[in-house]
Amino acid sequence: MTVASPPRILLIVGGGIAAYKALELIRLIRKAGLNVRVVLTKAAQEFVTPLSAGSLSGDKVYTDLFDLTDEAEMGHITLSRQAELVVVAPATAALMAKLATGLSDDLASTLLLATDKPVLMAPAMNVRMWHHAATQRNLETLRADGVAFVGPDEGDMACGEFGLGRMAEPEAIFAAIQEALKPKAQPLKGRHVLITAGPTFEPLDPVRGVTNRSSGKQGYAIAEAAVRAGAQVTLVSGPVNIPTPAGVERVDVETAQEMYDAVHSALPADVFIAVAAVGDWRAKEIARDKQKKGEDGELTITLVKNPDILASVGKHESLRPQLVVGFAAETRNVEVYGRTKLRTKGADVIMANDVSKDVFERDTTNMILIDESGPTNAKLLTKREAAEDLIRYIGTRIK
Ligand code: C5P
Repeated sequence: MTVASPPRILLIVGGGIAAYKALELIRLIRKAGLNVRVVLTKAAQEFVTPLSAGSLSGDKVYTDLFDLTDEAEMGHITLSRQAELVVVAPATAALMAKLATGLSDDLASTLLLATDKPVLMAPAMNVRMWHHAATQRNLETLRADGVAFVGPDEGDMACGEFGLGRMAEPEAIFAAIQEALKPKAQPLKGRHVLITAGPTFEPLDPVRGVTNRSSGKQGYAIAEAAVRAGAQVTLVSGPVNIPTPAGVERVDVETAQEMYDAVHSALPADVFIAVAAVGDWRAKEIARDKQKKGEDGELTITLVKNPDILASVGKHESLRPQLVVGFAAETRNVEVYGRTKLRTKGADVIMANDVSKDVFERDTTNMILIDESGPTNAKLLTKREAAEDLIRYIGTRIK
């Protein structure tokens, strides 16, 4: 009964009336000649049996994290990574909440946390549960983490209400699966992409310093998108609290001068993307000891200008990358300042965003991409989507 080659899809079936449609989905997947391995949550087994799911998939159905035979035969880590794609249908509010918060307390949620493969969710729940602020918050978090969604649809629900929350039809889920399995184009294959991210920190004395507000999220998202596009990525990063994305070479720095030096030693590059919020000024002299409060309640610090890293690369005489991208975080006149920056920094493209609305720690951002042909329309995107957009754009510009 066991399928010979590793499954291309791991299908996690959550508990809900829509679980019966998962059987049709298994049938469609198998009809297309794809192997699928099925996991049923405890609640899902109230709606479909392992026997029916297994007869359709032609494979063993997994239900229990503590099934020792399975752990001996195949650990949950292997189970979570053998397939190319993890599909959750129906994705209940509970399964979404668990993955959004990183909770793993059964086989399904453990697999979702342990997988390194793309995840596609087909939500199904009562309309009020779908619109609940908590579910919408989880949806936003999961999207920012790169989870793809199909549905839910609008319609009559099993509970008698009407609205958004019906699971997408098996045909639509299958179409999304086919899309997700398509080999991804790698427009930056073999290219060296150099990125700066995060803030810089300029010490004033051994305990104090001047810094900028920047979480580093946008720069890190761009680094990840560049890796997915096949690039070799060097990420010169100021102090942030984000793990290094897989496949990225990260160089940690603190001050603007260190960032400048690290960038110049990482050249040549095909693309330079300056996302870092670099401090414009540093203390002329760094006090050797912690400065005392003093009697008059004032402290005078002389600041000197830091080098402009973006301009130094954008106007580099011999090692200018083919494409130079800068950022403009402005609180007003976003487009005008963005255009000016194209010229003053020697950049080909400026990603301008409006930071008047507290974007710093958030996952969304309001972006305008400005090049010599003008601006694109401002879009509210997750930082991950903005990164994908930028990398797609770069792919079209690079020769
Ligand atoms: O001049 P401003 O700081 O507004 O320009 C922002 C752009 O310039 C960003 O891309 C930022 O990474 C880059 N920059 C830099 N070095 C500096 C100042 C800004 O690379 N010293």
